[in-house]
Amino acid sequence: MVSPSLVSPSLVSPSLNSRPAQVQLYDLHPPLDDFRAEVLQGLRQPQKMIPPKFLYDKRGAALFDLICTLEEYYLTRTEMGILQTHAAEMANLIGDSVLMEFGSGSSQKIRILLDALSANPLASDPVYVGIDISKQHLLEACDRLTQDYPGLTAIALCADYTQPLELSAIEGMGDRHKVAFFPGSSIGNLEPAEAVQFLQQVAAALQPEGALLIGVDLKKSKTILEPAYDDALGLSAAFALNVLTRMNRELGTNFVVQNFGYEAIYNPMGRIEMYLISLQDQTVHFGEEEIAFTPGERIRTEYSYKYDVEEFWAIAASAGFQTKQVWTDPNQLFSLHYLHL
Ligand code: AVI
Repeated sequence: MVSPSLVSPSLVSPSLNSRPAQVQLYDLHPPLDDFRAEVLQGLRQPQKMIPPKFLYDKRGAALFDLICTLEEYYLTRTEMGILQTHAAEMANLIGDSVLMEFGSGSSQKIRILLDALSANPLASDPVYVGIDISKQHLLEACDRLTQDYPGLTAIALCADYTQPLELSAIEGMGDRHKVAFFPGSSIGNLEPAEAVQFLQQVAAALQPEGALLIGVDLKKSKTILEPAYDDALGLSAAFALNVLTRMNRELGTNFVVQNFGYEAIYNPMGRIEMYLISLQDQTVHFGEEEIAFTPGERIRTEYSYKYDVEEFWAIAASAGFQTKQVWTDPNQLFSLHYLHL
C-alpha cells in the first residue's frame, strides 16, 4: 500500500536535490532479490538455470544497451520505427490518460509518445508515471523528462512491477484513465502462463477502464532470430557470460569464464533459448557447495518467446484485455498492440 506520507520532494535523491524537485517519488521499497539463494536454487535443478533478471548488473545493462544498437538485433529499431510512424494515432488513443511506463528504460521510446502527445489537443496536462525497481535510474530518467517536457508532471514509482501494484494512493492521477506502456518485447522473457499472470496484474492496476500499449516480437525465420541473439561481434555472448563474472564478484564463486561458451537456438515451439555451455568437465565452488558440470552441459539464462499477432491476442484475452489496434512494420518483424479492458 502506498502511504501518502512517503510523497515528498525531499525523498528525491541528493544529486537531484540541488535543483527544484519536479519529480514526485513514491518509494514502495521493493524487496531486494536474494541473488545467492535464487541462483543456487537454479543451479541445483536438473536443467541448470540462472534467472534472467540477474543478467542486468551495471555491465550487463550497458552490454544490453549495446545489443539494442546491433544490426542483427532488429527489435529496438523496428519498434522505434513503428512508434514513429504511428505516434499521432497512438496519441489520439491515449488522449489525456495518465501514461505509465513499466520499466523506465532509456526513455527514447516514451519520448516518441510524449512528442506526439505534446502536439495533440486532446492531451492536456500530461502526467507520466515511471515504474522501476532501480530508484536512482528511475529518478534520473524522470528528471530528464521534466527538463525536456515543460508542463509534464512526472511521478517516479519505485516498485517491482512484476508484483501487484497498488496505485490508489498516488496523487496527481485524479480520475483519469491510465495507459500502461510496456515496450521492448520484455513480455517474451516470461513463460506464456507467467505472461498471462503479469498481464492480469497490469489489468488490475489499470482498472476500471485503462489500456495497455505493448511491444511484442513476432515469429519469424530462425535465420533472422538466431543471429539477433548470437551476433557476430559477440555482445550477446558477453552479456550472458557476464553473469558468471558477477557471481564471482558478488557471491565468491570461482567460475572460469573462458571455460564456458554461449549458444542461442530457436525452438520451433516459438522461443529463442539462450544457454551458457560448459566447455569441459569442471567443478565450481559455491560457498560450501560444489557444482559439477559435464562437457557440453548447459545453464539456461533466458527464453525469449515470439508470438504471432493472434497468439498474443489469445494471451491478452486470458488476462481480460481486448484488442483495439495493432501496428506492425512492413517486414512483419515486430508488433505493437493497443489493448483495453
Ligand atoms: C529484454 N529482452 C526483451 C531481450 C530479448 O530480446 O529477449 C533480452 C535479450 N537477451 C539477449 N538479447 C536480448
